Amino acid sequence: LANGLAATPPMGWNSWNHFNCFIDEKIIRETADALVSTGLANLGYKLVNIDDCWAEISRDEKGRLVPKNSTFPSGIKALADYVHSKGLKLGIYSDAGYFTCSKKMPGSLGYEEQDANTFASWGIDYLKYDNCDNDGSKPIIRYPVMTRALMNAGRPIFFSLCEWGDMHPALWGANIGNSWRTTNDIADNWDSMVSRADQNEVYAEYARPGGWNDPDMLEVGNGGMTKDEYIVHFSLWAISKAPLLIGCDVRNVTKETMEIIANKEVIDVNQDKLGVQGKKVRMEGDLEVWAGPLSGYRVAVVLLNRGARHKVMTARWDDIGIPPSSTVIARDLWQHKTLKQRFVDILTATVDSHACKMYILKPIS
Ligand code: GLA
Repeated sequence: LANGLAATPPMGWNSWNHFNCFIDEKIIRETADALVSTGLANLGYKLVNIDDCWAEISRDEKGRLVPKNSTFPSGIKALADYVHSKGLKLGIYSDAGYFTCSKKMPGSLGYEEQDANTFASWGIDYLKYDNCDNDGSKPIIRYPVMTRALMNAGRPIFFSLCEWGDMHPALWGANIGNSWRTTNDIADNWDSMVSRADQNEVYAEYARPGGWNDPDMLEVGNGGMTKDEYIVHFSLWAISKAPLLIGCDVRNVTKETMEIIANKEVIDVNQDKLGVQGKKVRMEGDLEVWAGPLSGYRVAVVLLNRGARHKVMTARWDDIGIPPSSTVIARDLWQHKTLKQRFVDILTATVDSHACKMYILKPIS
């Protein structure tokens, strides 16, 4: 969507994966503080996104959405002012149906204009728009109503389509939203994570600046995977140009989690200005090579071992789009080391089970 808001994939935090419906304004304020104090905001994580369950079950007498008095007593405008004062942006959640997925608050179907205007008047910067409890009409009918309402609301608002991929939103999302979910909800385990990456990869050619495929939010830091598995999670999301929306409690973030989500070299792959989604370029059983071009004739590569034993893996120039016989410098993005060796035609590395290596390859001759 040409609203100037998605030149690179969005980055920030969302409440759902960790807090579910148990959110309040204190958590949101403290999260904003934590994004700044940890340095995550400086790395680009600027969005503070409130997910489901922030509103009362009933609209007010004028039909307006009402922030839940027991959990958001100061209202959303005050929260937006606070978040903005920290140099961050505030996101909110609604639904293209009668109720949201939690069934704890109303959706925006039939109230698109009013709600878009409400969000704009509060200072909202990002809207995630879910698909529960709708009238059975096609998403391609319901979602553009909100697109138009947002465009007329007088404030640039990033529009995140959360249709779960059923109606292949990658095929129609580009003029309607800035990102579109290609998958059902992620869970905090290896199988769920890699299957989301797989489903999302199919649509790689539809991602570009302005609109991105969304395999759902990050689980890094929530405890259900090993460190290596979370490194795979973050590496695949980065090379896939997926939104990087942290889903853990950043107020209590561990050193290990920070090493992953604050890896600037991996973030830079995600935010590269070329904006081309990486793809699987070779699959051999449990071994996969993912690659995608970066600006400056560079290529990002992930060597992914999905199997139960460590394996020797090879990235071939033929597969990843580097001219034959080129000599290449390799930067290991998780070791933070430029390898001494120069590589010609192939790069070989040993990769542990449920782990990956991630490189930027730069041809020098
Ligand atoms: C759906 C969405 C999730 C989350 C929940 C909230 O399941 O896909 O990302 O927003 O609704 O209820």
